[in-house]
Amino acid sequence: MKEPFYTLITGASSGIGKSMAWYCGSLGMNLILVSLPEEGLGQVAQEIEEKYKVKTAFYETDLSVLASPQALFDWTQQNHFNVNSLINNAGVAGASVFESSDIKYIDDRILLNIRALVVLSRLYLPILRLHEKSYILNVGSMAAFWPIPYKSLYSSSKAFVLYFSKSLRSELKGTGVSVTVLCPNGVRTNGATNVRINSHGKVGRLTELSAERVARAGVDGMLKRKFVIIPGRINWLVLIIGKILPPPIQQKLLVREFMKEVRVTCA
Ligand SMILES: NC(=O)c1ccc[n+]([C@@H]2O[C@H](COP(=O)([O-])OP(=O)(O)OC[C@H]3O[C@@H](n4cnc5c(N)ncnc54)[C@H](OP(=O)(O)O)[C@@H]3O)[C@@H](O)[C@H]2O)c1
Repeated sequence: MKEPFYTLITGASSGIGKSMAWYCGSLGMNLILVSLPEEGLGQVAQEIEEKYKVKTAFYETDLSVLASPQALFDWTQQNHFNVNSLINNAGVAGASVFESSDIKYIDDRILLNIRALVVLSRLYLPILRLHEKSYILNVGSMAAFWPIPYKSLYSSSKAFVLYFSKSLRSELKGTGVSVTVLCPNGVRTNGATNVRINSHGKVGRLTELSAERVARAGVDGMLKRKFVIIPGRINWLVLIIGKILPPPIQQKLLVREFMKEVRVTCA
């Protein structure tokens, strides 16, 4: 395959995606950055290009619109961007009482967290297969490991990301394409995540990590062709303890913990 190669990152205008863009830039990777319109994405691309002398391009779109993943793919093809790494980071979180969740809230989690990630993976796979070594990094969450009350849509969407990534990784064994899933715990990326992490008190504060640290762990893990990346030793401990508890106790604790979150976020 002919260089230059590009890493495509969705949700790159802020939070974990933006930190990944800066980190990938520092590693000399050329970038295609994607996010919603009018959120300063062009400036992020320009600053990274100037600082690290890499090539950058950006594309603004709402990936929850059905036609958007295909339009993004067509644009990268028309411009001959040779993508060898796909980072599906864009996603929306949130807590809600399911019974009173509005349909837009439901659609956003399904269309962005699940559909856009799956369609982009499908579209880019034939391009990634042409490379000797290539990568898909899907951003999941620690929420993927439990059916979380009051985060029923979010935790199910991230469980989907985890299962999808595992199945695809196995299907692609023996090819040059490696599939990795990043499962962070709390990261203070915006006002809403601040409120959510604070609602969990000490547990929230002990388990949170910076966007930069999570981004580095994800990209390094992707390049090492690992499967699941859970940044922070304490979060491995949370996973192990959380998994060995009997399911009824797990659910009791989850209800208690996430009722705190839904109370503050839906107040
Ligand atoms: N923060 C956490 O505590 C945490 C924990 C575990 C997992 N995660 C996962 O990590 C990923 C990034 O989260 P974050 O906290 O960094 O989020 P964030 O700060 O809210 O950033 C989300 C990014 O996705 C973009 N985006 C949102 N909706 C979009 C859409 N419909 N189409 C295209 N782009 C869209 C945003 O673009 P604009 O800036 O243009 O709006 C932004 O660039 C998500 O998948 C999230 O589920 C986060």
